[in-house]
Amino acid sequence: MLKVIRGGTVVTASDTIKADVLIDGEQIAAVGAIGAVDAETIDAAGCFVLPGLIDNHTHMSMPFGGTTSADDYDTGTQAAAAGGVTCIVDFGLQMEPNGLQSSLEQWLGRAEGTAHVDYGFHMAITKADDQTFKDMQAMVDQGVSSFKVFLAYKDALMVTDDLFVTALERSVEVGGIVQVHAENGWVIDHLVRRALGEGNTAPIYHALTRPESVEAEATSRAIRLAEMAGAPVYIVHVSCEASAREIIAARARGVHVFGETCIQYLFLDINDLKRPAPEGARYVCSPPLRDASNQDFMWDALSFGHLQSISTDHCPFNDEQKALGKDDFSKIPNGLSAIQHRLALMWEHGVKTGRMSPSKLVDVTSTAIAKQFGMHPQKGTIAPGADADLVIFDPNREHRFSLETAFSNVGYDIFDGQRTSGSARQTLSRGTVVFDNGAILTKPGHGRFVKRGPFNAALHGDTKA
Ligand code: URP
Ligand code: ZN
Ligand code: ZN
Repeated sequence: MLKVIRGGTVVTASDTIKADVLIDGEQIAAVGAIGAVDAETIDAAGCFVLPGLIDNHTHMSMPFGGTTSADDYDTGTQAAAAGGVTCIVDFGLQMEPNGLQSSLEQWLGRAEGTAHVDYGFHMAITKADDQTFKDMQAMVDQGVSSFKVFLAYKDALMVTDDLFVTALERSVEVGGIVQVHAENGWVIDHLVRRALGEGNTAPIYHALTRPESVEAEATSRAIRLAEMAGAPVYIVHVSCEASAREIIAARARGVHVFGETCIQYLFLDINDLKRPAPEGARYVCSPPLRDASNQDFMWDALSFGHLQSISTDHCPFNDEQKALGKDDFSKIPNGLSAIQHRLALMWEHGVKTGRMSPSKLVDVTSTAIAKQFGMHPQKGTIAPGADADLVIFDPNREHRFSLETAFSNVGYDIFDGQRTSGSARQTLSRGTVVFDNGAILTKPGHGRFVKRGPFNAALHGDTKA
């Protein structure tokens, strides 16, 4: 079955050109001026045709903070598709007492038959022992080539520095890459105890007990240890200038460190935590929202390539779940619901304002992520042979964020009331229209597991690789 998207402006990470896109089944067959052809036509006049966005940082159905994140792979990937996202890389969590293999099987089981867009997994290492390190090879062989370690969440997910270094060393042997949640869990624990001891229980204390220096220190430590181990390292959810500067300095001395920020650090700030209940708790995430004075630097870091990508860290908890911490901020489940918002917000405040070109937007939301996580050129670009994962972005299709337009199961919208002048009109996943003008057309199960390749240093300018 052929489809042709006609008359749009095709944007890749390198070019913006007027072109048609011919789709044959699940793949792109040709890009350019397509003559008369017996195919279903999608009119994209006046629109931009982008590679489907990839969200490489999501937490669907994830047990966390005494509860489970509110989106499963069905609702979470509907929200994804509505925001132009055609692939997620979700975090599987090593569940005690199990090893990585049985944990991966659990996560594959949750997603299979439910997702609307394609999905891969990173594996979060929470019980770093010999068996776990051994299992890392089997993960890479099965297409799970990235591993998250937490330097935060003491007594829950945190690993100690010696085990972190072992994971780094092992990642090099198996062809994977370690991702780091960089906050100093020991110091946070100390600050949280002190705040609670002084009777400070409100959501704002979540941010005040996780200051920027606690993140910057852990970022610096993670990078230095990776440098020592000779391993590439990827810092997730970089929230502030101080941490970004650690990454910039390390890259300047030749360290293979990569940094991701998330939309919440560009569009929300610490004052959101002061909103009256129940709203303040909705903005509790880690690292926390920062003073808005960081945001110009973070935009520039992204636009100039010092940070390589932007994701959402979608990890939604509804008001009832957030209320677990109504008398103690440290018990509020951490995470925001943001998977639907990235494209419209980045276009409105990035492209329209001239902070970044359409190609740069494509790079930081899709192409660079596909390269980083072993999915390029199957995903992240518009070229013959690539999956027909596409979003038709209409710069004049106004969007208002609200509960009515949201597909997440979280029950509120943290960007409620904000408007953008453009939004995704249609989202195609492997040639199938998943989202069309406000409606999801696919059945759960359209999305498939993506077997990702190993970390490829050559894609990041390493001439030794
Ligand atoms: O607050 C957050 N970020 N929740 C999700 C878990 C994590 O640390 O990424
Ligand atoms: Zn994290
Ligand atoms: Zn996360």
